[in-house]
Amino acid sequence: MPDQYAVIGNPVAHSKSPQIHAAFARQTGQDLTYERLLAPTHAFMETASAFRARGGRGLNVTLPFKGEAFRFAGLLSERARAAQAVNTLKFEGNATYGDNTDGAGLVYDLVRNLGCAVAGRRVLLLGAGGAARGVIKPLLEQQPAQLVLANRTLGKAQLLAQSFGGGLEAGTYAALAGRQFDLVVNATSASLAGELPPLPPGVFAPGALAYDMVYGTDDTPFLAFARGEGAAALADGLGMLVEQAAESFLIWRGLRPDTAPVLKLLRHATA
Ligand code: ATR
Repeated sequence: MPDQYAVIGNPVAHSKSPQIHAAFARQTGQDLTYERLLAPTHAFMETASAFRARGGRGLNVTLPFKGEAFRFAGLLSERARAAQAVNTLKFEGNATYGDNTDGAGLVYDLVRNLGCAVAGRRVLLLGAGGAARGVIKPLLEQQPAQLVLANRTLGKAQLLAQSFGGGLEAGTYAALAGRQFDLVVNATSASLAGELPPLPPGVFAPGALAYDMVYGTDDTPFLAFARGEGAAALADGLGMLVEQAAESFLIWRGLRPDTAPVLKLLRHATA
């Protein structure tokens, strides 16, 4: 019987994770199954426990359950603690290990795939929700020259910055006027609603990369704005999706697949 894995969420039908992990398994010759697991909104724990009880070895966790998965895990990685969210569960005997590979996925995509160093650069992170929280620790570990967090609701950005012990600066969008950044990462949910965070003009330094965690076939409003502002490079979050999956695969199977062909496959499928 092959080892069983799944992505748990609600909704989950749109998830590309089964396709990604099937490609990783083929590439590395691993014998496993990976399915979609739809959990009722109020029954994450029951659904995850039932999956474990029938021999499941691990889960990827997507919206809206990353916080519940954090509480469900008995053992947490440091990056999961920092994110206060878990996107990867591993079941081993009676132990439930929780990790968060989202931030590592972003950093991998930036540094390895896009050739955009974070070290020594001025980085602007937009948003102060779960998506932003999940990537702060891995970004700080790269030792940027500055990490600035901008959010519509200033108090949320300030609280978040405080919880990371002052390694980053929090502010409003208006306070960005006159400042420039080498990397601007959109971790708001604005793109999902077809909206644009209220960025002042001129935030992209010469050579800057604009990165939207959301992905799709067309430019998001943020990427369209960045293009109009003359940002040197644009990227959506498809690479982060594939890289966070590779990190999960590494946790479960002990080896990291080659992501380039899988990213290419998905790029073709979404084109
Ligand atoms: P997620 O888990 O995806 O981060 P979230 O916790 O609901 O979702 O957070 C959404 C983030 O997107 C917040 O930072 C939100 O800003 P506020 O805290 O001010 O609400 C941000 N956001 C959503 N729509 C936005 C918009 N149109 N412009 C700017 N920021 C937006």
